[in-house]
Amino acid sequence: MKTMFWEDSQLVLIDQTKLPHELVYYRCKTYKDVIHAIKTMKVRGAPAIGVAAAFGMALAELEGVDLQKAGEEIKAARPTAVNLFWAVDRVLKSDNALEEALKMYDEDIETNKAIGKHGAEVIDDGDTILTHCNAGALACVDYGTALGVIRAAFEEGKKIKVICDETRPFCQGAKLSVFEMQQENIPVKLIVDNAAARMMQTGKVNKVVVGADRVAKGGIANKIGTLMVALAAKRFDVPFYVAAPKSTFDFENSIYDTKIEERDPNEVLYFGECMVAPEGTEVENPSFDIVPSDLITGIITEEGILEPF
Ligand code: MRU
Repeated sequence: MKTMFWEDSQLVLIDQTKLPHELVYYRCKTYKDVIHAIKTMKVRGAPAIGVAAAFGMALAELEGVDLQKAGEEIKAARPTAVNLFWAVDRVLKSDNALEEALKMYDEDIETNKAIGKHGAEVIDDGDTILTHCNAGALACVDYGTALGVIRAAFEEGKKIKVICDETRPFCQGAKLSVFEMQQENIPVKLIVDNAAARMMQTGKVNKVVVGADRVAKGGIANKIGTLMVALAAKRFDVPFYVAAPKSTFDFENSIYDTKIEERDPNEVLYFGECMVAPEGTEVENPSFDIVPSDLITGIITEEGILEPF
């Protein structure tokens, strides 16, 4: 199942806010529709928002909008993932926005399969792998990065199990990663985020694989809570791998220069439809955190496994 596709001069996206219970598609007819889809998390995950942004540029071209202006607006949709900026800049340098977007679409799948192949080498028969958030097919065009590594190891016949952190507040682990694993019949269990350290302390997890929104000098940025998982992994000697394509890398800047997205307080105040805190509660809702390089065992890319830098 592809997260998105181009049809009748429109970008058609799975509306991920409706998963896992409903499979609903959202049709982007304008580049502003793509911006809306990214802001509201109908499409999310660094590689997926990158490719969606490229199609957004293709729509802008069809609409006759100035591409520089559309590019600036698209880049402002979410601040943390490198892929969004990388995709817009790549289209701006190309001769034809749609052709470039379609190329990036195909490349995403090939890249993820290569990440999977390299990553599967560090997965052993019998491993139980913890993952945080969703760095799966749904976070990309298909196959996934962290879940791509898990898929590849499973396809090689390794008997593995997966533990998904729920990933409050948006619950990408519960809603999306569990769903993807179940679709593939990969054994999976769901835990609350607070249980991750306990799983490692009791030997119930022996590897961690997560994705990244940014890989830069000094570490990586990924979904809020990744830092706590990495700290626990270090404490309990559990290898902690990051799977990410080169389009997520920023070789110029320090990871501490990353702009961390702050999201709507209601994501924290409510659990689904149910308000869980008193009226008027003040909230901080950072969407990402930074894992320093010394907590990372290796960065799995399409070109092989790199040392954190
Ligand atoms: O807020 P999200 O759902 O876009 O955050 C997604 C993540 O943090 C993923 O781990 C990351 O983008 C890598 S996806 C291959």
